[in-house]
Amino acid sequence: MAEPSEPKKPEDDAPRTPLVPPEAKKQTSGGRLTLWLLGIVCVAGLVALIGKTYIPELGKSGGSTASRSDAGAGIGGPFTLVNQFGETVTDQTYSGKYLLIYFGYTYCPDVCPTALTEMANAIDLLGTRGASIQPIFITVDPDRDTAEQLKTYAGYSHPGLVGLTGTPEQIDKAAKAYRVYYRKNEPSAGDAADYMVDHTSIIYFVGPNGRLVTHFSHGTTAEKMAERIGKLL
Ligand code: NI
Repeated sequence: MAEPSEPKKPEDDAPRTPLVPPEAKKQTSGGRLTLWLLGIVCVAGLVALIGKTYIPELGKSGGSTASRSDAGAGIGGPFTLVNQFGETVTDQTYSGKYLLIYFGYTYCPDVCPTALTEMANAIDLLGTRGASIQPIFITVDPDRDTAEQLKTYAGYSHPGLVGLTGTPEQIDKAAKAYRVYYRKNEPSAGDAADYMVDHTSIIYFVGPNGRLVTHFSHGTTAEKMAERIGKLL
């Protein structure tokens, strides 16, 4: 299989453009699959198997708008992780800031790059107000996503992006706090290090007090995200 062994690299002159070709987005109207309470997971293994982009969603309420079930409901919580510089951080490290948090993994071929691009663009659309928002990427693949790997990956996304990894236990705790589902797909053959990870694809907007303000389903455009966040800042 032609699965990437490195995170995709954008063109030198366009570091903020999507890490996947635009046509990949247009193929996302595949079937739907109820896999997780909160919405969408990245079924990258299926993508590889059936050869097309496949983004299942939960029901029809997902899609391009902020979810109804905003305002917390116990989502979020304390975490202890390691940033891309190898420094231990906690939720308290970011206390006092607005956060946009996304869980994924750097080897993700499509879903994560798409979501991170929309997130970065939303921050940029907010201009100087967006500067008060800290974007955070938390890996669900700590085995491969070392601090060093995250450092490289963050460089391809928003310049302010913080990449966080940790022990499997630390990642598990953080993911559970945000009710993020993830599951490693064992490779069927070949390189044991060449695998995909299914995971929830939701962007969480967290307030300065560390509590969830709202969240965005996969497929929410940067414009809609910026509009909604602009009203909440
Ligand atoms: Ni992904």
